[in-house]
Amino acid sequence: MKKLIAGNWKMNGDLASAKSLTQEIVNGLNANVLETCDFVVCPPALQIAAVQEIAANTALAVGAQNCSDQDKGAFTGEISAPMVKDAGCDYVILGHSERRQYFAESDTLIKDKAVKAYAAGLAAIICVGETESEREAGKEQDIVGIQLSKVLGEGATAENTVIAYEPVWAIGTGKTATPDDVAAMHDFIRRFLSEKLADSERVRILYGGSVKPANAQELLSLENVNGALIGGASLKAEDFLGIANAAPQLKAQNAA
Ligand code: PGA
Repeated sequence: MKKLIAGNWKMNGDLASAKSLTQEIVNGLNANVLETCDFVVCPPALQIAAVQEIAANTALAVGAQNCSDQDKGAFTGEISAPMVKDAGCDYVILGHSERRQYFAESDTLIKDKAVKAYAAGLAAIICVGETESEREAGKEQDIVGIQLSKVLGEGATAENTVIAYEPVWAIGTGKTATPDDVAAMHDFIRRFLSEKLADSERVRILYGGSVKPANAQELLSLENVNGALIGGASLKAEDFLGIANAAPQLKAQNAA
């Protein structure tokens, strides 16, 4: 399975920086990285059209950072899944911990959004993860299990669902979970999915939380880590591509 290298730009940059970052990433997608990795960037919604114009007909896919649980109508400020698809996106990030924390998104709302995303032909990158106190209490698998059981809605398949495990305490903090902790959680998620989805072994499970070129090889070499969801380091083409280049297969190829 190819690794999915996903950039979450959050609320950063302007039109000019979005365009130059996209161009730099596209320029760096050589045959070597494309053999082992798929790529998606998720810019702020207002930059999607400009990013898509550069990414169209390249191997770089584009995604949104959120979508509505409604298709259309009087929902001021919202963007529907069909609009995201119409703008040329293939992916949408849903249930990021920042949306759960600052916008009070519940698992039920995230599931409803995912159902709309699937219907619109989008793949949902659904985020799950425990807080620091939940991990300290040894409850991380219980928490992630509950989140997964609630967010996997009707129409979820191995093709249209990507799970991103992002321990909340590791996001933007420079702290990463240990490889043993990441491996244990990803194995748990894989087992969980096997009871819920057909072909669950084909679902990509991403790790997210302070991923950077220096720790990417260790994380991406774990059996059930099928890619990364990258925040801060996705804002620099060199770091974003550096993470892909650190994928273990690429290391081996480059060394050969
Ligand atoms: P980070 O963010 O890489 O800056 O920790 C990850 C994320 O929020 O998806």
